[in-house]
Amino acid sequence: MSSVMPSVLKSVGRLAFPARAGPWLRHPLTRHVALGMAAAILMIAALAPLASVMVENWSQRDVELRSRLVFRSIRDHVAVGIAAKPGFDLVPFFERLADDERILGLGFCPGAGAVKFATRSLPRTVTCDSVKRDRSDTFATITDGGRRIHVSAFPLSTAAVSGHLLILHDLTYIDQRARSAELYAVLALVGIAVGIGVLATAIVLGLVRVGGRSDRGPAAGLAPGDAGAGWSGGGVPLGREVQARLGGMRVERRFADGIHVEWSPRTLQRLLVEELPGAQVLVVSNREPYIHHRTNGEVALQVPASGLVAALEPVMRACGGTWIAHGSGTADRETVDAADRLRVPPGDPSYTLRRVWLSDEEVDGYYYGFANEGLWPLCHIAFIRPTFREEDWAHYRAVNERFAGIVAEEAGCEDPIVLVQDYHFALLPRLLRQRLPKATIVTFWHIPWPNAETFGICPWREEIIDGLLGSTILGFHTQFHCNNFIEAADRFMESRIDREHASIVYRGHETLIRPYPISIEWPPAALTEQASVAACRAAVRQRFALPADVRIAVGIERFDYTKGILDRLRAVNDVLTCHPAWKGKLVFIQAAAPTRSKLAAYSALQEEAERLVAEINARHADGDFMPVRLVVRHHEPAEVFELFRAADLCIVSSLHDGMNLVAKEFVAARDDEQGVLILSSFAGASRELSEALLVNPYDTHGMAEVMDEALRMSSDEQRDRMRLMRDLVRQRNVYRWAAQMLLDAARLRRHERIATAATLAR
Ligand code: F6P
Repeated sequence: MSSVMPSVLKSVGRLAFPARAGPWLRHPLTRHVALGMAAAILMIAALAPLASVMVENWSQRDVELRSRLVFRSIRDHVAVGIAAKPGFDLVPFFERLADDERILGLGFCPGAGAVKFATRSLPRTVTCDSVKRDRSDTFATITDGGRRIHVSAFPLSTAAVSGHLLILHDLTYIDQRARSAELYAVLALVGIAVGIGVLATAIVLGLVRVGGRSDRGPAAGLAPGDAGAGWSGGGVPLGREVQARLGGMRVERRFADGIHVEWSPRTLQRLLVEELPGAQVLVVSNREPYIHHRTNGEVALQVPASGLVAALEPVMRACGGTWIAHGSGTADRETVDAADRLRVPPGDPSYTLRRVWLSDEEVDGYYYGFANEGLWPLCHIAFIRPTFREEDWAHYRAVNERFAGIVAEEAGCEDPIVLVQDYHFALLPRLLRQRLPKATIVTFWHIPWPNAETFGICPWREEIIDGLLGSTILGFHTQFHCNNFIEAADRFMESRIDREHASIVYRGHETLIRPYPISIEWPPAALTEQASVAACRAAVRQRFALPADVRIAVGIERFDYTKGILDRLRAVNDVLTCHPAWKGKLVFIQAAAPTRSKLAAYSALQEEAERLVAEINARHADGDFMPVRLVVRHHEPAEVFELFRAADLCIVSSLHDGMNLVAKEFVAARDDEQGVLILSSFAGASRELSEALLVNPYDTHGMAEVMDEALRMSSDEQRDRMRLMRDLVRQRNVYRWAAQMLLDAARLRRHERIATAATLAR
């Protein structure tokens, strides 16, 4: 039966759902439900008669027991009556017993021939000869006039009497009982089958909905009602689809809630293998992760001071793939192969760096001009006026075009995952979409996005938003910046905004707008090379000739006007003025990496900072001891971490910042759980590091007071705050940042595939 069933069901299915049937009938869900019902009907047909057989057997046994009971109750009376009084009439006694609705009749067989003392209802066909009689109790079923009768013959033998007492039961009620039982069984089985069917359908529909939600993608916009159609298209059996969905949910359950996953290079790699098997990952940024410079005839390697590089480099080491970036080093051309590629990191290569060459003119227009004199001040509210030049814009467009061509060249397939980085490449997503329509383009904007009024002053605002909306996903550090972008798209573009799902449909293509707070690797590689905190403090004290009782405050970043370096210096001046006890007892070390020095705003900042430092030192010097040390040069990560570990407090006073990874690095560097972080409330990091002492960098005196508070903070409080911040940075590390984007990308790719299969099937 079991081997026959599937083929029977298949035949039934083929008959019920011929190939030319309508789409609903051809839908796998319909087919599976119908085949399930056919199987249930066959099962019911097989099981229902069993119920009547069972009832009949039970009832027969019941009748035998009952007959026996009656016999035992009356046998003495009958035996004594027959023996004691010849001619005694037992019929009235038997008639009274036969009043029972189940007992049909009674009689006595002294031997062969007619039944003696037969009740009126005893069928005439029943004679002593027709009844099987024995030395033991015998039972038989006979049919009389279409009804079934149960005949029991009990031997009755005493010294004076010998014969058999007959007790007949009408079995009609058993037949009725068996029919009822069969009916109840059918009803019960139908009920169970329907119940299971409803439950199974609900579960499947639930899965469809869950899958639909998790796969909710931009381009296809598969509506709930379309889900079934989407599923039928691929011709994949439902079971496998459900399994695939369940597989996705399992992974999602494991990965979606970052709090339960220790994100590391390994978990990120696993995510790639499980969620994006075989996908090619390409990263595009202006800044390259490794720069080769020729100095004094030697080629030297430099890791740039860049938050973007600090975040992405460990991710690329984990993911592999190709990083495409501007080759800006003086020895960069000497260190690539014929295809402008080299394997990095040097010494332990795990991914490819593809360098792109730009002329000085292009760098001036695209990088210094439009990106850093236009978009940078436009997006940062630091009160530096943006400058927009037509020729810069032309270079910006041309360089974006160039990178689009190179990405297409590097793409080894039609659907790579391209991670486009930052404001240097606002046009690239659209240009890529044209060249690689099936690519998953995840763009991350590393700087803030201003409100629509501010952004609206850009002469090419529509082109920039249009370019970014070529992305599959567009990420910012905070929800606030996402909202600002959506507002700008709403105001300047003919687009459809879905606020509930935070997506923008423009030119028939949907882009998800998502917050992904960037972070650092955990544990930071630079930390592994570090000596103990005490040794770091000793080294820094020695380098800066600091007495043992001097407290150390540090500020470490690129020399950028958005970082609030001048405001910080003014606060140091204020704390020494308002709390003179700190004179000679506090040093502020500012490590600043020169950056974009060609630009007037940057060179002016450096000059102003140097002037201010000289002024403060002149005012607050304690003998030879200078309270501010400004070190303007590039610092390697190991030096930066040594400074962090030596510090009593770290000041991050950005006037405006997308995230600020210095704050997170300081926290990561302090495995001794000591040190105080002073953090601008205008840095994205302040949304996460709420145990830092938050300040408004424009409020000089307020910031000075917080510095004083930080210097006096007890070790216990420092530990409590630091512990919480370290936990957060450990959990929300850069692998989680990348994982969130890749998981979203994976979901969208799955969704796209289902939608494409559905379209092809229609
Ligand atoms: O903050 C934006 C950003 O691109 C960062 O990601 C990076 O740290 C910094 O600017 C570097 O800028 P540049 O590459 O111009 O030196």
